[in-house]
Amino acid sequence: MSKPLLTLEKVSKTYMLGKREVPALSNLDLQVNKGEFVSIMGPSGSGKTTLLNMLGCLDKPTSGTLLLSDVDVTKMPEKDLYKIRLNKIGFVFQTFNLLPYLNARENVELPMEGKFTSKTGRKQRASELLGMVGLSGRERHRPQRLSAGEQQRVSIARALANDPAIILADEPTGNLDSKNKYEIVKLLANLNINQGTTIIMVTHDGQVAAQTERMLFLSDGKITREKQGRHVAKKKYTCPHCEGKIAPGDERCPSCKKKL
Ligand SMILES: Nc1ncnc2c1ncn2[C@@H]1O[C@H](COP(=O)(O)OP(=O)(O)OP(=O)(O)O)[C@@H](O)[C@H]1O
Ligand SMILES: [Mg+2]
Repeated sequence: MSKPLLTLEKVSKTYMLGKREVPALSNLDLQVNKGEFVSIMGPSGSGKTTLLNMLGCLDKPTSGTLLLSDVDVTKMPEKDLYKIRLNKIGFVFQTFNLLPYLNARENVELPMEGKFTSKTGRKQRASELLGMVGLSGRERHRPQRLSAGEQQRVSIARALANDPAIILADEPTGNLDSKNKYEIVKLLANLNINQGTTIIMVTHDGQVAAQTERMLFLSDGKITREKQGRHVAKKKYTCPHCEGKIAPGDERCPSCKKKL
């Protein structure tokens, strides 16, 4: 059985606009297990980004609790939350948010500075990550010399800099054409399968969401519906009995030996 990695209990978030209260999340309960690939859909203003910000410890709920691996993070001081964000969570945004004056490799190296002390080590890891997202040879390109799909790959490599347990992606395919859109989803799905990274992705695109394993629908700050996605790759390469890795064509699971 997978363990809960993130648990939200009765989480509400109300913003203040002057004296006016703007409710964004309302008594929301959610549990995400380690290794899940979850998508969040819902109309504009339904609270998707607010929810992602809570999960990423970028903002605190007005009430309710967020447990990260059983630890209540809602009461933690900012300096501890900063460490959690740096070491456990990778963020991917619709607009990539790359620094324009740094090249691809330097953008990926940036979050490593607090963690990897040697410059050579950081350089090497950044190049490896860029290779992993299919950008070998593009290390020295600045963002404006990369296509939108390539820029999003750099931002995924940057999110992986400190080997996070969780990736939170807010509309990562929103600015991409359909070919690049599926390339990025495939990349995320492979990370989920091969490295066990837990991924939570906000999207407006039903076809993109259907590639994940669990689709959540948000409306007025509440989860109103949940549906199983296809996550084709996961079905194909994961044992249905023990969730161990299997290869295409395996008749028995190499881990639990059960018939597939
Ligand atoms: N900083 C803020 N101050 C005040 N109100 C805010 C703030 N951020 C979000 N809101 C409000 O909270 C509600 C939820 O916003 P949120 O950005 O989470 O929606 P969303 O589902 O991500 O929308 P979209 O699909 O347009 O990105 C909206 O009513 C929004 O206007
Ligand atoms: Mg949003």
